[in-house]
Amino acid sequence: MRKAKISRMVLAMCLGSFVMGIFYFQSNLKSASPQGSGQARGSRKSVRSPLQTLYAADSMDPSPLHLMHKARRELLHDACRSHTRKRRVLMRDDLKHVIVDDHHGLLYCYVPKVACTNWKRVLLVLTGESGGLNEPLQIPANEAHAPGRLRALSEYSAPEINRRLRAYLKFLFVREPFERLVSAYRNKFTRTYNTAFHRRYGTRIIRKHRPEPRPEALERGDDVSFAEFVRYLVDPSTRREEPFNEHWERAHALCHPCLLGYDVVGKYETLHEDAAYVLRLAGVDDHVTFPSTAGNARTTGDMASDFFKSISPEFQKKLYELYSMDFLLFNYSTPAYLQLT
Ligand SMILES: *[C@@H]1O[C@H](CO)[C@@H](O)[C@H](O)[C@H]1NC(C)=O
Repeated sequence: MRKAKISRMVLAMCLGSFVMGIFYFQSNLKSASPQGSGQARGSRKSVRSPLQTLYAADSMDPSPLHLMHKARRELLHDACRSHTRKRRVLMRDDLKHVIVDDHHGLLYCYVPKVACTNWKRVLLVLTGESGGLNEPLQIPANEAHAPGRLRALSEYSAPEINRRLRAYLKFLFVREPFERLVSAYRNKFTRTYNTAFHRRYGTRIIRKHRPEPRPEALERGDDVSFAEFVRYLVDPSTRREEPFNEHWERAHALCHPCLLGYDVVGKYETLHEDAAYVLRLAGVDDHVTFPSTAGNARTTGDMASDFFKSISPEFQKKLYELYSMDFLLFNYSTPAYLQLT
């Protein structure tokens, strides 16, 4: 196996526009440490960044947990190599979901419906933007999602982006794709309070995918069935009009794992162990605990099988094709209930 030792960056500015290409190679780990640990550099040489801690464990005495994460990382890397066509260049827009923690040297790519509210709460605490709150759950959900407090990697200049990509620990959390999809459907279309989603998406879905809709349904968009939602997703014209909403966009399309090379792949199915692993690497496990909320208790859910009963085999197959990269890259097996004939 050939590991790229060189880290190199080529920057291309096209005619003064903001089009930017970042050629980013898997990096030389010893070269840099995060901003926040700068003061520690001189006095305490042994202070490692989370990224250095992760890769130091490879040569020390790797625990079974560490080896499991290494296997996941390598599986992702291999799956990227065998399933992606020509490697394209990383663009600034690819980094909109990547949240920066300069204090600890972390980059977290958030995927909605995969505990992202709690991760944003934790990052608000870690970056000192929690308004003095030390307990993540004390931060209201709407504040965790409020723009302006957490910074996305896309907001930085190209050299600043590249420096962080090389030196920081990059992680994301993923979830079984159909469980995530059903969770998004239930949350956005079956709850009466989500009127914004009903108006924006529900009305459109009903107009296009329901034969002879009643006028109230057309106006309110609040009774979209799962089968109608699936028709909307697999209809090629949907994505021609605009990108998917982030709640049902594929995790690989939000986080670009094959361009970014994540160091840790966390899973919703093992959320608390994996979150604790990341916080331990960041050296903050003694003062920040990942929230454990009652709603998250059922993380190995099997909601999807019930919902798929209302979907014809033809549409099950189309939906599986749509989400297949998330199954492959993150090692989720094809659900047993799926009818792919
Ligand atoms: C991939 O999934 C299979 C089946 O669930 C599991 O046995 C294996 O350990 C997983 N591999 C990695 C690297 O996570």
